[in-house]
Amino acid sequence: MFKILKKRVLNPDVTLMEIEAPQVARKALPGQFIILRVDDKGERIPLTVAGFDREAGSITIIFQKVGYTTIKLDSMEEGECLIDFVGPLGVASEFEGMKKVAVIGGGLGVAIAYPQAKALHDLGAEVDLIVGFRNKDLIILEEELKDASTNLTMMTDDGSNGNKGFVTAALQERLAQGANYDTVIAIGPLMMMKAVCDLTNESGIHTIISMNPIMIDGTGMCGCCRLTVDGKTKFACVDGPDFDGHKVDFAEAIARSKMYKAEEKISMEKHNCRLTGGVR
Ligand SMILES: Cc1cc2nc3c(=O)[nH]c(=O)nc-3n(C[C@H](O)[C@H](O)[C@H](O)COP(=O)(O)OP(=O)(O)OC[C@H]3O[C@@H](n4cnc5c(N)ncnc54)[C@H](O)[C@@H]3O)c2cc1C
Ligand code: FES
Repeated sequence: MFKILKKRVLNPDVTLMEIEAPQVARKALPGQFIILRVDDKGERIPLTVAGFDREAGSITIIFQKVGYTTIKLDSMEEGECLIDFVGPLGVASEFEGMKKVAVIGGGLGVAIAYPQAKALHDLGAEVDLIVGFRNKDLIILEEELKDASTNLTMMTDDGSNGNKGFVTAALQERLAQGANYDTVIAIGPLMMMKAVCDLTNESGIHTIISMNPIMIDGTGMCGCCRLTVDGKTKFACVDGPDFDGHKVDFAEAIARSKMYKAEEKISMEKHNCRLTGGVR
């Protein structure tokens, strides 16, 4: 059993938890993920390792309440235990040779981008961190993001923090000003990562994206997380989640991401019914 050591609500949709998992904490690296189950009837969901403390034997996860399992996880409190917490899974991010990097995070992608920015910053790279949220009330981890970057730019879709626009607009401005990044790392919704790749393709800047397709086993056996990279089939769970964004088949990835929308809607409705006794 894996105890919830700490719970912190970051905004109405996003929660941070520290989970006691010494064996995972011993080996975890930025870019990797875990798969958890809340209880013995629960589904397996993958979440990024947002942080680790090898001495305390804990792993930090940050998750957005988007459906059945994440809402159930959010309802748990410090001291309660998760039944499964498997990891670290996936290939750790590769930072070698990176000196001037733009790290772009959109929405919840910010939580996943944060450990990557921090690792690069700790390694001495110059990190321009550009993050975007729908509005200022959804901004998370502001202090942590400042500490993990050389320059932090926070955008909001509605301009409520005084900086209106998408992360891609901020990146475009930097590129137009002559920013000479050796690498751009983009993490967030597929459409956002595609837009970043379209921009960087023009200037030939190496661009890494983090793919988050549906996963089941997380060990390369079920084939659920497959995607096409450079014309070859890859599995995000064992070959990724990081990939060269200019080589990913986005059209296929976007189509596959919508495959289970109907089932997810039904599962969510059943959950709401159980919570409210059917009253909505
Ligand atoms: C490698 C990886 C790392 C991730 N890291 C994070 C993270 O740090 N924080 C975070 O909030 N989310 C993360 N996700 C997404 C997270 O796994 C889903 O939000 C979660 O599974 C939703 O489950 P649900 O039952 O609450 O919602 P559902 O209603 O079941 O699904 C809502 C949406 O979540 C996605 N999803 C559902 N099941 C899975 C699954 N088994 N695998 C992947 N995606 C799924 C689908 O796009 C779906 O439309 C990550 C996904 C992957 C693959
Ligand atoms: S999740 Fe099954 S192969 Fe990747």
